[in-house]
Amino acid sequence: MPATTLDQLVSLCKRRGFVFPSSEIYGGLQGVFDWGPLGVELKNNIISSWWRTNVYERDDMEGLDAAILMNRLTWRYSGHEETFNDPLVDCRDCKSRWRADHIRGRCPNCGSTNLTEPRPFNMMFKTAVGPVADADSFAYLRPETAQGIFVNFGNVLATSNRKLPFGIAQVGKAFRNEINPRNFLFRVREFEQMEIEYFVMPGTEDEWHQRWLEDRLAWWESIGIPRARIKIYDVPPDELAHYSKRTFDLMYDYPTLGHEEVEGIASRTDYDLGSHSRDQETLNLTARANPNRDSTARLTYYDPESRRHIVPFVIEPSAGVGRCFLAVLAEAYDEQMVKAPPPERVHAVTDALEAFLKSVGRNEKLAPETRDALVERGQAILAGLPETMPQIETLLAMPGADQIDTGKKLRGQAQGPIDEYFRTVLHLKPHLAPIRVAVFPLKRNHEGLVSMARELRTAIQSGSFFRTVYDDTGAIGKLYRRQDEIGTPYCVTVDFQSLEDGTVTVRDRDTMQQVRMPASEVRGYVTGRG
Ligand code: GAP
Repeated sequence: MPATTLDQLVSLCKRRGFVFPSSEIYGGLQGVFDWGPLGVELKNNIISSWWRTNVYERDDMEGLDAAILMNRLTWRYSGHEETFNDPLVDCRDCKSRWRADHIRGRCPNCGSTNLTEPRPFNMMFKTAVGPVADADSFAYLRPETAQGIFVNFGNVLATSNRKLPFGIAQVGKAFRNEINPRNFLFRVREFEQMEIEYFVMPGTEDEWHQRWLEDRLAWWESIGIPRARIKIYDVPPDELAHYSKRTFDLMYDYPTLGHEEVEGIASRTDYDLGSHSRDQETLNLTARANPNRDSTARLTYYDPESRRHIVPFVIEPSAGVGRCFLAVLAEAYDEQMVKAPPPERVHAVTDALEAFLKSVGRNEKLAPETRDALVERGQAILAGLPETMPQIETLLAMPGADQIDTGKKLRGQAQGPIDEYFRTVLHLKPHLAPIRVAVFPLKRNHEGLVSMARELRTAIQSGSFFRTVYDDTGAIGKLYRRQDEIGTPYCVTVDFQSLEDGTVTVRDRDTMQQVRMPASEVRGYVTGRG
């Protein structure tokens, strides 16, 4: 079963070092996160899979890596200076600030309805380029990677000799000064996008829009997100961005949040290339482009058949890496009961949980929302015991739980059975797993086992595009559980039989079955199953 709450993922990411709050030792920075040792591997594997599918496996794509800082005029003519705004309101009572469309007329901090009228807030971060901060040095951090593609359209076309239709793909950082960053990685101020601008003949854009929708859903499926878990939202005209003729939002069913956008696929017409072009009056543009007196180029394509210069239309599939990361984790997450715990241990946990919830209900020091959140979570766990027992760890990591004395007793009762009868496992596709193979010696103080295990790790790693690790820091059962929790598909154990006949066991993460094979065959075995 996929994760049921966002807290389960937050807790896993913290516990196992996937994601850290940025500059945590100084109190952090709201809406900014760092990728830890396992997070960076999973994120890079997601990006590689996207790049392989969209650039290498197609014959109509080129790649690009444009700079984050761009001439300010880019953002004037793209329309962002004027329109990249969110509606901001102030609470007159507690002085907090909110995004008007997220709060339904009531301050989430103090409950007041005494709010200012919404006013536009431009979300682009501003900076200065060079030693003097003045009008000439003013620049923005890009709020999307797309514009780097549009302004390079002529360069790519001239150097690649592409014919329409073709696309340009790019992965890179984007920055938005979100009014209220929230929900962990879902809405942040610094994030990465995987964007494609696909250029087509005018008149063929609807057909290509549908084809890209299908192609993108197939990719999501290939990384473990079934179609049934994504709703396609055909964005109504009054919600469309200023550049879009039609947009399909792919809405993944996130735990806690419900269906939210993970990718947008927009039909952007000739708006962008038109807006960044000079001599617009000669281009027969269909979009209401921004009049441009600064551009030095006509971003057109010479069509040999009609012998005319035309402005291509654009289909843009654009996904956020962080939102994708969260969806992949949510879908892969599983808390499995490996063996049923004995009834007396379940009773003991039930009693301890009931006592904890009573203490929460009686605690006057907790804010009402904190109390309600703890009680709601705890009741859901209580109703689902024993299967929900591992969720007690997440409950005890929730805000306010550390102020409840009976929490220690609950942890004491639950930890033993959780370790003994459950496992957390990430059923990640092998090509995404942060670590593909973990190699263990059966005993860490046996020189023969240790050196064979170390040599095998090196042999599997050498020349591979995935990560292989050696670990001898615990008993085998514990090592298996640790690797299950981070999604390692294969655990290889070197035992005494290995020293005699050169074979090892390979354990499958999902079935927990072990097969024995010559050590020399392991690399081929785990590679072929990528
Ligand atoms: N070039 C088009 C564009 O930027 P968008 O819908 O604003 O469109 C595309 O963003 C994707 O970027 C979204 O579907 C989402 O996955 C991701 N994204 C946007 N804002 C984000 C934020 N503040 N935090 C995390 N991801 C974000």
